[in-house]
Amino acid sequence: MTGSARSVVALLFLLVGSAARADSAVTDGLLPNGNFEDGPDKSQLNGTVVTGRYAIPNWEISGFVEYIESGHREQDMILAVPEGARAVRLGNDATIRQRLSVTRRAYYSITFSAARTCAQKEKLNVSVTPEFGVLPIQTVYTSSGWDSYSWAFRAKHSVVWLSIHNPGEEEDPACGPLIDSIAIKNLYPPRRTKGNMLRNGDLEEGPYIFPDATWGVLVPPIFEDEHSPLPGWMIMSDTKVIKYVDSPHHRVPQGARAVELVAGRETALVQEVATVPGRSYRLSFSVGDAGNGCKDSLAVEAYAARATAKVPYESQGTGGHKRAQLDFAAVANLTRVVFQSFNYHTKPDGTLCGPLVDDISLVSVRKRAARL
Ligand SMILES: *[C@@H]1O[C@H](CO)[C@@H](O)[C@H](O)[C@H]1NC(C)=O
Ligand SMILES: *[C@@H]1O[C@H](CO)[C@@H](O)[C@H](O)[C@H]1NC(C)=O
Ligand SMILES: *[C@@H]1O[C@H](CO)[C@@H](O)[C@H](O)[C@H]1NC(C)=O
Repeated sequence: MTGSARSVVALLFLLVGSAARADSAVTDGLLPNGNFEDGPDKSQLNGTVVTGRYAIPNWEISGFVEYIESGHREQDMILAVPEGARAVRLGNDATIRQRLSVTRRAYYSITFSAARTCAQKEKLNVSVTPEFGVLPIQTVYTSSGWDSYSWAFRAKHSVVWLSIHNPGEEEDPACGPLIDSIAIKNLYPPRRTKGNMLRNGDLEEGPYIFPDATWGVLVPPIFEDEHSPLPGWMIMSDTKVIKYVDSPHHRVPQGARAVELVAGRETALVQEVATVPGRSYRLSFSVGDAGNGCKDSLAVEAYAARATAKVPYESQGTGGHKRAQLDFAAVANLTRVVFQSFNYHTKPDGTLCGPLVDDISLVSVRKRAARL
């Protein structure tokens, strides 16, 4: 073989190899039967209880799992289902899992919809071994009762199991969250760019948002920026969240996505950045409203080192934003920039809402440093 023939063969090999990988790895969007529209055979149901381990196509189950059809009546409550007509309910110690082909070492976010049914403090353990996250399904952020939650992982292997487990131990074993619409998205954690010391400062990279989800996606507490569904950012809270919103359904200050601070001072959006003690920095950001009816006197508080800024924003609930900034001198090698909603706010339907933050940048202001 001549050198060029050999390189053609090598090239073909590469192309075939990568095509095969691309074919088998999951693609962004709903997982196979991720909305549970494909259900068990009648012979594998006892009432609503699923009796066969492999009864739900594409899924494996264990524990007390129920298959719920939209309109199912229970204790005078009619359960509506956000996507299609069917969902599952995870009772005590119930698990659903699906095997996924992924790209090793790549980052992924998982988005799914969940509704609490009986207990106040329901939780879900979402995992892709060895990583897991225990998500509080406690506060309801929509009037329908269904919220979309996100979680992220970095694939350690090319085939992984995604599991959702209800670790609950309620008196009624059937108590537990309803689950529907499970989707995945490749995450490409952005690096710092020239002119901004923050990563993902424009908040454009984040979890999958369903095209028909007008209610955004919640990002639950995450204390590690590496594996955050909102790369670069941590969500500091006990049980509360931030809401990730997109331009097809909301007004956003810049680009296609932004963060709505929906939990008052109970949640902070935080990024840690390397700084030089004594040097001056300027944090700039947009504050606005998502045009979702959050009509109130909103305010965002921003903190960095020993500086704070309270940025008031009078919201008509119809969208809009303004720029704000916080100048500070670093006091350590690492500085946390922190954003919080100054207060709690609700929409006329009683659901929580708050100010938006977007388009966040941090720069070093060198000439000022000499004067400090
Ligand atoms: C169906 O569930 C009921 C109540 O839990 C139980 O008594 C019955 O034996 C179950 N039927 C089958 C066929 O497993
Ligand atoms: C969550 O699930 C993972 C995987 O099954 C397990 O290793 C982990 O211990 C669980 N965590 C909690 C807090 O239940
Ligand atoms: C910053 O880092 C340097 C070198 O790692 C260390 O010597 C210094 O004590 C640190 N300063 C502060 C304020 O943390």
